[in-house]
This record gives sequence, structure tokens and C-alpha cells, in this order.
Amino acid sequence: MIRFKIDVTFINREKEMAELRNYLEGRPNSILFLYGPKSSGKTTLMYRLFEQIEAEKRYKINFLNLREIFLTSYDDFIDAFFKSSNSEKGLKTGTRRQYSLFGLFKLDAFTEKMLKKHQEDPFLVMEREFQRLAKKGIQPVIIIDEFHKLDGLYLPDKQKRLMVELMNFFVAMTKESHLCHVIIASSDAFFIEQVYVDSKLRKTSKFMELDYLEKEDVFVWLRDIKKYNQIQAYTLDEKQIEIIWNTVGGSAWEVYSILEDLFQYPLDAVISKIKREKTAMIADWTFDDAARNSLLRYFRKQPIRKLTELAGTDKNILGQAVKDNILY
Ligand SMILES: Nc1ncnc2c1ncn2[C@@H]1O[C@H](COP(=O)(O)OP(=O)(O)OP(=O)(O)O)[C@@H](O)[C@H]1O
Ligand SMILES: [Mg+2]
Repeated sequence: MIRFKIDVTFINREKEMAELRNYLEGRPNSILFLYGPKSSGKTTLMYRLFEQIEAEKRYKINFLNLREIFLTSYDDFIDAFFKSSNSEKGLKTGTRRQYSLFGLFKLDAFTEKMLKKHQEDPFLVMEREFQRLAKKGIQPVIIIDEFHKLDGLYLPDKQKRLMVELMNFFVAMTKESHLCHVIIASSDAFFIEQVYVDSKLRKTSKFMELDYLEKEDVFVWLRDIKKYNQIQAYTLDEKQIEIIWNTVGGSAWEVYSILEDLFQYPLDAVISKIKREKTAMIADWTFDDAARNSLLRYFRKQPIRKLTELAGTDKNILGQAVKDNILY
């Protein structure tokens, strides 16, 4: 095993993990949407959950991370969701992140051929698989990360939107037939908002937010970077931890990035670089755009606003700010 001078860690998330388990332990009755700000740890949490329940033989868990997948057509979707049983040959199994390489469902050669020729309904194939598992007393779970990437794809017949059809299918599989748990994660808060306000999906879905780490978690972590990150070269005192918290809060990716930089530079240099980068990012986003400028100036006074306070703001700009991870 390679030994690094700094390693990644996994802090807390007990409450969130318990919430996910609570969802899985009940009979399937809703789709669960996991959302949260950029890099809050959604994918990491899903992988953790995956590892935990994969070890328990009660569940058949299918994890698909669409970020890793090239998706521009219906056929790409079929490839991502369905893999023939012999397509695994030559690939080493056992390593953690490989599951998503295999697609969600393994098929016999005939069904695969029919699917590829568009002569088989992918939703029926999935449903049959869920029923087969249910008969064996195994609970199927589907986890799809970066679900919004399916937007823009269409079914070959009648040009139906794939994402809408898939969502309807998941509603049928959860709320109506109670066959399968479905967890959908997305880093696109704008997409989640659209799902949330969609009247057709009302009373079919649950929403779970994964926010950045709490202050207490960050302090527990940074007081013992030897334990959590295997860092031997330096430690942090309370004042330094406070500075880090005040700069990046509970954003684990950014905290880790600071820890990396501290091998080479003093804390004040690292912090001022981060501040310069953030300023540049905002300056770039608002450059020569009065509406964007005025929107952000509004948030500068108070970073959390009610939607009603934003009446009169162009919703496109607001949406763009969310899509670009400027606002959340
Ligand atoms: N509980 C945690 N403790 C420490 N580090 C964490 C934790 N959760 C996530 N991280 C780290 O934070 C980074 C971002 O995590 P991850 O990619 O899972 O976030 P995400 O919400 O899926 O991001 P995106 O919005 O891009 O999809 C990773 O480097 C990961 O190792
Ligand atoms: Mg992610």
C-alpha cells in the first residue's frame, strides 16, 4: 500500500447516514433526493453507504455515478444502465469504485441485443429484475449520482424526455409497487429546485440536504490531523483552526486543500491566496454585468435571503448563479 504524507478522511455524518438507513429499512415508498452545496460530500456519503450495505447481503445495491460516464444519446444511457454479463471479462473486480463501471443491471445476451436494437423496453427490463430480486428476498436499491446529466436525452420513440420517463418509472417502482428504493443525488441545486416544485412529483419524493461540516466537526478534525490525515509534519493550534474555519467553513475539500498547502507555506500565505482566488472568481462572474453585480451586492449585506425578498430579480440570473456555484 502506498503511504502518503497526507491522507483523506471521513468526518462524522452519523446523522445523515442514520437518515439514509432509516429510508432503506422501510418498505420503498418514495424517491429520496440528496442535495447540498458543491463538494459537500454527497458522492462520498453515497460510496460509504454503498460499502456498508453491500456488505450486508439483504440488499442488491446498484450504484451509478453519471459523472464518470459519457452521455450524449439514448444508447449511452442503455450502455450505462445495462451491461451484459460477459462485459466484465478482463476487468479486475474488488476495487472500490469499480461498481459504477459495470452499469446498473447485468443482462443476458438476448435482452441486451433487444435493448440495443430498441426492441425491448428498458423500464420493463428493470422492473423484471426488481421482481426477480424481491422473490429471492433481496431488496434492490438504486443510487444514481449526478442524475441531472440525463437532461437533454430522449427516448427513441415519440421523443419523450428520458429524465421525465425515468422519474415516472421510479415513482411507479417506489410509491406504487414498493419494489425498489431509489436514491438520487445531484450537485445541481437548480435541478433539485425544478424537481421540488414539479407538481407531478409532489408527495412522491423526499428531500435530504447534505450541508458542509459543522464547526464542531471541523474542530475535532483539525485538532487531530495526525489521527485523521496521518500528518506527522505539523499540528494546528486553536487560533489557526479558527482562522481556517473563518475562511472556508466546513467545506471538507477546501479544508483538506489547506492542509496540503501547509506542508509548503505558512497559514497566512495560504489564506490570503484563497481569498484572492475567491475575489477573482466573483469578479470574473460579475464582470461588466450590472444585473449580476447588483444581485451579489444584495447578498453581501446579508448572505441568507428569503426567495420572496428577491422578487423582481431575473430568475435566469438567479438560476445561473446557482448553476455556477456562486449562490446556493
Ligand atoms: N465527511 C467528510 N469528512 C472529510 N472529508 C470529506 C467528507 N465528505 C467528503 N469529504 C471530502 O470532500 C470532497 C468532496 O466530496 P464529494 O466529491 O463527495 O462532494 P460532492 O457533494 O459529491 O461534490 P459535487 O457537488 O461536486 O458532486 C472530497 O475530497 C472528499 O474526500
Ligand atoms: Mg458528487
